Amino acid sequence: MTARPNKLAYGPDLAFVHDTGFGGLALAAAQELLAQLGQARQSAGTIIDLGCGSGILAEAVSAAGFSIVGFDISKAMIALARARVPRGEFHHESFLSARLPAAVAVVAIGEVFNYLFDRKNSDAQLQRVLRRVHRALVPGGILLFDIAGPGRAGPEGMRQGFTETEDWACLYKAEEDKAHKTLTRSITTFRRRNESYHREHEVHRLRLIEPRDAIAMLKTVGFRARIVRKYAQFVFPPGWCGILAKKPV
Ligand SMILES: C[S@@+](CC[C@H](N)C(=O)[O-])C[C@H]1O[C@@H](n2cnc3c(N)ncnc32)[C@H](O)[C@@H]1O
Repeated sequence: MTARPNKLAYGPDLAFVHDTGFGGLALAAAQELLAQLGQARQSAGTIIDLGCGSGILAEAVSAAGFSIVGFDISKAMIALARARVPRGEFHHESFLSARLPAAVAVVAIGEVFNYLFDRKNSDAQLQRVLRRVHRALVPGGILLFDIAGPGRAGPEGMRQGFTETEDWACLYKAEEDKAHKTLTRSITTFRRRNESYHREHEVHRLRLIEPRDAIAMLKTVGFRARIVRKYAQFVFPPGWCGILAKKPV
């Protein structure tokens, strides 16, 4: 597999592959979020989905009676989300510049805060986003997200694998740069088009975030926050964790 970089960030083929093959995390996160909202006795209101992808979580929370406002930097993902949840409001925009309406919950599922698709992403920018999220949330509102941290590519710092179905195959390699706290994923997809397969290649760079640093940022802007080891039945492997934050009432 070559690591030839290109400008794609979840282009049409990888967006389709993510949507059809890797939606389990978003479904588990939706279940977790709905359980948390139930405990907080919230049964209506707006949920903001940062890095909403193809709208899998959006569809689940919309079916449960919430309004959804989603943002994603990938045009292909936004097109899938709009088709899946016609009642939702979806914006093709980076979470770093998104204007946030008042909300009962905000989510960022699938390492969204780690991606360097928007090259402005940094600790300082993330802290600003968290401050805006805090302002947008109602008292008692929930912020649920997950982050990749050091160790995400396993003890060797490198991991590769593949997934295949009737219609597509996806080969991936993840390499961690421990000194710079970054992770590079090279992903090649082969998607069936009639009798042939279309090959596409993407390179994703992520900055790794220490969970304790994320918790400190959240506390600085006024959240109560803790690490969670699972979303519903989905248990995070080492180097990846969820964070549940609440705006005090
Ligand atoms: C692993 S996917 C997860 C998608 C969705 N949340 C889910 O769980 O199915 C990560 C998503 O984050 C989006 N993303 C990455 N950087 C972003 C940014 N700066 N602003 C908005 N979306 C971003 C990607 O385009 C992609 O859709």
